[in-house]
This record gives sequence, structure tokens and C-alpha cells, in this order.
Amino acid sequence: MFVSLKALSPDPILGLIADFVKDGNPNKVDLGVGVYKDEAGATPIMAAVKKAEAICYEAEQTKSYIGPAGVPEFNETIRDLMLGADHPALRDQRVTTVLTPGGCGALRVGAELLKRCGGDVTIWVSDPTWANHVPLLGNAGLKLAQYPYYDRANNRLRFDEMMTTLGSVPAGDVVLLHGCCHNPCGADLNEEQWQAITSLAEKNGFLPFIDLAYQGFGRGIDEDAYGPRLMAEKLPELILASSCSKNFGLYRERVGSLSVVGAKAADAQASLTHINNIVRGNYSMPPSHGGAIVGAILQDDALRQSWTNELAAMRGRLSSLRTLLVDKLKEAGAARDFSFIDEQYGMFSFLGLSPEQVGQLRAEYSIYMVDSSRINIAGVSHGNVDYVAAAIAKTIAD
Ligand code: LMR
Repeated sequence: MFVSLKALSPDPILGLIADFVKDGNPNKVDLGVGVYKDEAGATPIMAAVKKAEAICYEAEQTKSYIGPAGVPEFNETIRDLMLGADHPALRDQRVTTVLTPGGCGALRVGAELLKRCGGDVTIWVSDPTWANHVPLLGNAGLKLAQYPYYDRANNRLRFDEMMTTLGSVPAGDVVLLHGCCHNPCGADLNEEQWQAITSLAEKNGFLPFIDLAYQGFGRGIDEDAYGPRLMAEKLPELILASSCSKNFGLYRERVGSLSVVGAKAADAQASLTHINNIVRGNYSMPPSHGGAIVGAILQDDALRQSWTNELAAMRGRLSSLRTLLVDKLKEAGAARDFSFIDEQYGMFSFLGLSPEQVGQLRAEYSIYMVDSSRINIAGVSHGNVDYVAAAIAKTIAD
């Protein structure tokens, strides 16, 4: 059987981890996979997570099954975090939320739910989008199409072109939007732009599917949820995936959520029965550990405050690293204006280099980034920024 299988190339993002580990250069720099890092290049466990883990460990009475929807305390608190506890859709009980194995699990279960609703559904994704959106949604049987989003030549949003394309999306199709901190380009929609897309969805009847993987990493916890909150209020239906990998640093615990906002409470309830059925026929139910940690943090005032403070510090660090990198590139004499990096949000930006230049940075300087020249801003530090900026400036000049 397996003799027919040809080995595949490594994943374009995760494959970088192994290559970086193997590299013996003491000056190597990892700007690849989207993992938050501190000044020392470490990804520590957040203080609130450590405390919540201890509380959960003491409080846990059983390891019996939890069911396909996961941990109720998580589902309720994460929904409030995303939409705001007093959101009208919550008041009207139009929202159903389940714990999923990471944001990936949410995207995949969401895609399978859409497949059940429409049969022949097309989902429109931004050009560019996160590489893993394609298999997560496409392998569930959805057809993929693209809308213009980012102009790599001029480093800005292509908002007018985006709106023109979305204007042709028929009722019943689905449009995937990045809630904040666009991965890979870092260029986010502003409030007016969210309003314009919401009005278009209302008028034309396409369904938004928002991927909120970085809440709290952009402008703030509430600010980053502007789009989902607006759409859940103004539109009859919405689907929302979230991840706790970055904002709670729970990468390996696989914690995410899938929410469906229905036109009526009964629609949300019916969706839940299908989600449970999809989950049961796939991984049966999610692991509880990570969801219990997040639930414990969000339910406890002191832990929640500690988490909020730590998240704010991470956000502030990302923002100051953006400024630092832009300044250092200028100082290094880079023959290009990189100031756009400082106007973007979250973990990622494109440097705008060719794949050959990306290869050169890797071969000559052991600086690792995705082939598209997407960099993880958190991989920059005060210790390596001069080296990184000089290498980029030299590579552009060659
Ligand atoms: C990334 O984009 O680097 C992260 O979201 C990690 C991943 O799974 O791709």
C-alpha cells in the first residue's frame, strides 16, 4: 500500500523549525514560525497560565470524557472575550461556541459545517493568506477563490480592489477574513473598512468567516475584536474561529474555539448539533487541559488581570521591535523604505524580498524566514537587530 506514496516536501512554515535547529551558526536568527519570543529568544509560559495550571491540577476530580463541545467554562468565557459580555447576539442567545484543538481545529470543523449547509460552497480567501488556510478549508471539500488584499510592490492594502471583488461574491458564498494581525502581511482593516465590508455582506448576502488568531497582539483585546463584534451585531449570520496559541501562549496544548452566530437562537442550537456530530466523527472530542486553563484565567479577576498585563507587554514589545527594525534598517543604509513595517500589526510583515534573496539570507547569514519573505517580528531582539538589519541591507544591495 504505502509503496505508492511519494515523500512530500516539508511544510513551508513548520519545515523551517528543523532547518533552524540543525544550523550550527552561533549568530543564527529565527524569523520563521509564528511563535512569540522574549529578548532572550525564549517562549516562556505566561505567569497566569502557570498559576491556572496549578489550580486546575488541584481541582480536577476526574479524567472522564468531556464531550464534543469541550469545556463549558472555556466556551462561555472565550465567547465573552471575543464578542464582549454584553453583546446583543449573546443576549439573544444567537451564538454557540465549542472548544477545538487549536484554531486549526476550528477552521476545519467550521469548513465541514459549511459543506453540510451548502454542498457546493466557495470560500474566498485573501491574496495572500496563511498557507495552512488552503488545506484546512480545501481538504474539507470547499472550493477556494481569492480576493485581492495586499499590494506587495507598494506595501499597502488593496482595499478598493478587495471591495470590487467582494462586490461580485454571490449570496451563499463565504468570505474568510483575518480578524486582526493579518498573517502573513500584518496590514489590517481599519474600522471604516470593516464597516464597508459588513454593509456589503448585508446587502449581497455572503457569509463572513472570521479567523481571530491573534486577539490582543494588535491594538488591544477589545480593539482587535472590532470586526467580529460589528459583524455579529449587524449581520444575521457569522462564523468565527479563534486560537489561544499566541495570546495565551498555549501553542502545544492546542486550544481554539469555533463559534456560530445564527439568525435565530434555534439556528445556533441546530448548528451545535451538527458541530458535535462532525467532531464526534473526526476526533470525538477535544482535549480539556488547555481549555480548562483559559477558562480558569478568564473566570478569576486576579489571573485575568495578570494575563491582560502580560499580553499588553507582549503587544508593546512587538510594536517597539517594529520601530527598532525600521530604524536599524535605515541606519544600515538599506536602499529601500521599510517604514511600512511600523504601520502594521501583530507578528508578521513581508520584507518584500525575492525567494533568491530569502535563500541568500539563509545561506550566508543563517537568518531564517518563510520563502515569501514573511518575518516573525518577535524573532528580532536588541541583541540581533544590527546583524539582521545589516544582512538585509547588504542582500538588497547585491
Ligand atoms: C505561523 O503562521 O507561523 C503560525 O501560525 C504557525 C503555523 O502553524 O503555521
